[in-house]
Amino acid sequence: MGHTSIHYLFFNKITSMVQFCKLVIFISSALSSYGRLNPNKFPDDFLFGIASASYQIEGAWNLSGKGENIWDRYTHTHPELILNRTNGDIACNSYHRYEEDVALIKKLGVQFYRFSLSWTRILPIGFSSKINPDGIRYYNNLINLLMKNDIIPIITIFHWDTPQHLEELGGFTNALMANWFEDYARVVFENFGDRVKVWITFNEPKEICLKGYGGDEKAPGYNLSGTADYICAHNLMKAHARAYHLYDKQFRSKQNGQISIVMDTFWMEPATNLTWDKKAAERRLAFIFGWYAHPVYSSNGDYPDVMKKYVARRSKREGFKRSRLPNFTKEEVNYIKGTYDFLGLNHYSTVLTKNVLFEPIFGKPSVEKDSMTVTEYDPSWPNSKASWLKVVPWGFTKLLVWLKNAYGNVPIYITENGFADDGEIDDKDRINYHKLYLSALLDAMHKYKVNVKAYTIWSFMDDFEWRDGYMTRFGLYHVDFNDPGRNRTPKASAEYYRKVIAARKIDGID
Ligand code: NOJ
Repeated sequence: MGHTSIHYLFFNKITSMVQFCKLVIFISSALSSYGRLNPNKFPDDFLFGIASASYQIEGAWNLSGKGENIWDRYTHTHPELILNRTNGDIACNSYHRYEEDVALIKKLGVQFYRFSLSWTRILPIGFSSKINPDGIRYYNNLINLLMKNDIIPIITIFHWDTPQHLEELGGFTNALMANWFEDYARVVFENFGDRVKVWITFNEPKEICLKGYGGDEKAPGYNLSGTADYICAHNLMKAHARAYHLYDKQFRSKQNGQISIVMDTFWMEPATNLTWDKKAAERRLAFIFGWYAHPVYSSNGDYPDVMKKYVARRSKREGFKRSRLPNFTKEEVNYIKGTYDFLGLNHYSTVLTKNVLFEPIFGKPSVEKDSMTVTEYDPSWPNSKASWLKVVPWGFTKLLVWLKNAYGNVPIYITENGFADDGEIDDKDRINYHKLYLSALLDAMHKYKVNVKAYTIWSFMDDFEWRDGYMTRFGLYHVDFNDPGRNRTPKASAEYYRKVIAARKIDGID
């Protein structure tokens, strides 16, 4: 016992020393690699906000008429896939605590709150044949309370929680998903559109299709890479366009809002100065981001040419009769092109991209193999709790400048940006991350005139981080998941963000 406790103390000391050193390295390397903070102010009409998503915070998974969705099913049938076998059954219990949540959001001084609707809370089996009045009531109460507090509601119509019933019909592999999504969108425009003026159809389609259909890291976990992912994206883009046109034709004139899609990407930095790595980085952006952005935001519409060419070529070599990447007809290209009012971007980090010279034809096809690229991290980049999230603020500036060059001066809303840790209340690393990323954003806006209109921190509070359960935390508010009441406590970053928003700058704000 004595031995154990001496070891324990010794180990603890070492761990805290290591943590301290890591922090010093983090701050100094971040500042030295980035230089001075940008001293400019955010324009008066620039909007600051915070975000969340229904499955990650609401809980009440089977209460008041809510139907089952794919994350309920995935976590209940495969608890071993989630860290500590947790799930979103209760999550932050925001379904019952939304009044307190709005008060906490108000304290931050943000102009908007981005949250998502649970499809099956509104339509328990996914079809609009049966509307759940309690679902409508819940979101009406939330929207009304936000508006009473001068907080603009920004609604994500779909943040990954497909109705289980629709998944059993194939989910996004079924082309009819476009009809079902349009019907759902009509219900939400009819019920909330008098007050909600900013709509997001889909959050991060790449994650849905690549991880949920191509892989099994996300629900529904088809694990059919190189086929189901492309089919998912194809149907999802059509569903997005249907909701956009529905709004545009039947609701916009009365409701005067905006509607778009939110996509996510890392910045892809070439791993070397060699031309083939530079081309590989461009190609990877086309595969990962252009896959969704090009059909909507480019002047020609459709998937990027390089993607069409590479998938067709490899499919042929694999013996497929036609490309695994489905074709949009001319009418579909025109129907999807231009279906946006802004560009919603979730951005967290950067990767180094390398060209792959030779990719042998065996095993399952995959989007990555099709792209003939691989990625890695620079070991000197500071870490976060999430292995994929390194602190590389200059990548944010580069990505924004790239977007401006690729898609013109479209208004950009940063709909997510955030840092992962263990949930410390004194979250200095998170403050540093946001300081550096906001500075990188100001660089893009002031030096390179990128048209960014809004910035959102993910997340309002610690929540269910999908496969990472409750262990990886992004919140400005700490949530005690051992407390039945799910007590919320502001972290240091909440106060930091409040000061930034009040001053509309980061220079000189601690
Ligand atoms: C993106 C997703 O939209 C959100 O659900 C997730 O929690 C964060 N990134 C952090 O991984």
